[in-house]
Amino acid sequence: MGREFASLTARWCHLLDVDFQPRIAAICDTNESLFGWYKNHFPSIEQFTTNYRDLLANPRIEAIYCAIPHHLHQQVYCDIVRAGKHLMGEKPFGIDKPANDAILSCLKEHPNVFVRCSSEFPFYPAAQKICDMIENKAFGKIIEVNSGYLHSSDLDPNKPINWKRMVEFNGEYGCMGDLGMHACHIPFKAGWKPVNVRALLAKIITERPDGKGGQAACKTWDNATLCCEARDPDRGELFPMILKTHRIDPGQKNTWYIEIKGTKVSMRFSTKLPKTLFWMDYQGGEQIWQQIDMGNDTAFKTITGGIFEIAFSDVIFQMWAAFLYEYVHGKPLKRFAACVTPQETAWTHELFTAALASQRETKTVEI
Ligand SMILES: NC(=O)c1ccc[n+]([C@@H]2O[C@H](COP(=O)([O-])OP(=O)(O)OC[C@H]3O[C@@H](n4cnc5c(N)ncnc54)[C@H](O)[C@@H]3O)[C@@H](O)[C@H]2O)c1
Repeated sequence: MGREFASLTARWCHLLDVDFQPRIAAICDTNESLFGWYKNHFPSIEQFTTNYRDLLANPRIEAIYCAIPHHLHQQVYCDIVRAGKHLMGEKPFGIDKPANDAILSCLKEHPNVFVRCSSEFPFYPAAQKICDMIENKAFGKIIEVNSGYLHSSDLDPNKPINWKRMVEFNGEYGCMGDLGMHACHIPFKAGWKPVNVRALLAKIITERPDGKGGQAACKTWDNATLCCEARDPDRGELFPMILKTHRIDPGQKNTWYIEIKGTKVSMRFSTKLPKTLFWMDYQGGEQIWQQIDMGNDTAFKTITGGIFEIAFSDVIFQMWAAFLYEYVHGKPLKRFAACVTPQETAWTHELFTAALASQRETKTVEI
């Protein structure tokens, strides 16, 4: 993820009409073999270190993007914030709820530090259009919301284990901690907070090659289906919201989707068809789903014409523009052209902790 960010800083001129530009001044990774790539491509980098505290001591660094395994989030995020550096953190923003609570209380003590959590998928133009419709309260009474993030590479039982499949590094949440922020981002920004959850969690592949010739136990949850009731803050009404985070969903490579069904308007988008927005208006009469090519109509304008396609690295770019825009201007460009806030990460921890209890007790848990 560090290289994803670095590469787009090298094409910052792609963005139009922005009054900010990041410059990468330093790199930290415990794996020194990664430094060569940065050295080859970024002459601006003045400091390479395997100890993140060296970055905190560097007065020339204003902000840090910290993408490290989940068991390190609490310690490192809090140290960054205490050092007065602005922070783009990664999900799940703490390995569990106590870690997230600790990060949020550290933030309260340092209100001048700007902190957000990365989650890029709402920056697809079709997703932004759905967000505009939420903003305009166009859906009518919400019938149901489906949002999710699906992967499939773990279907291969011979894929060696890595830290994301180990409870001690990835956390008890498993796939929810790894993928859940993406599924929650738009619903939570819309204020659609779940009030209860019945979670169906699955461990499908319980052993994997350990990369050293043996087998290792794989104890994390592979798939989670969270059946929630959420409250629409505008109408005060409850509606069903189904959030899926699957690491083993046959055929799905990196599928993020959102579907909102309303009495007036329904919309759905999936990264499987990255430029296609499905849309239905209903005012009586025939119920006709329309299909619209969204092209490159992004929140932050770029040199690419509106008729062309958008891709994963472009939405990461948009997310970084949103982070810097909000840091520089003190407010987001638009409510939904914004990164996940620390408060929104806290809501995901409430949900995932309740989901674990729901699975344990095989019952619906109030949040
Ligand atoms: N937003 C997204 O789409 C997205 C995608 C993938 C991962 N992530 C998140 O990014 C974070 C990292 O995931 P990843 O896939 O990049 O993992 P990764 O294993 O590919 O990279 C983690 C890096 O952290 C380094 N590291 C470990 N301990 C360190 C320490 N103490 N100090 C400095 N560096 C250290 C490792 O050497 C490694 O290079 C996680 O929180 C993950 O959930 C987000």
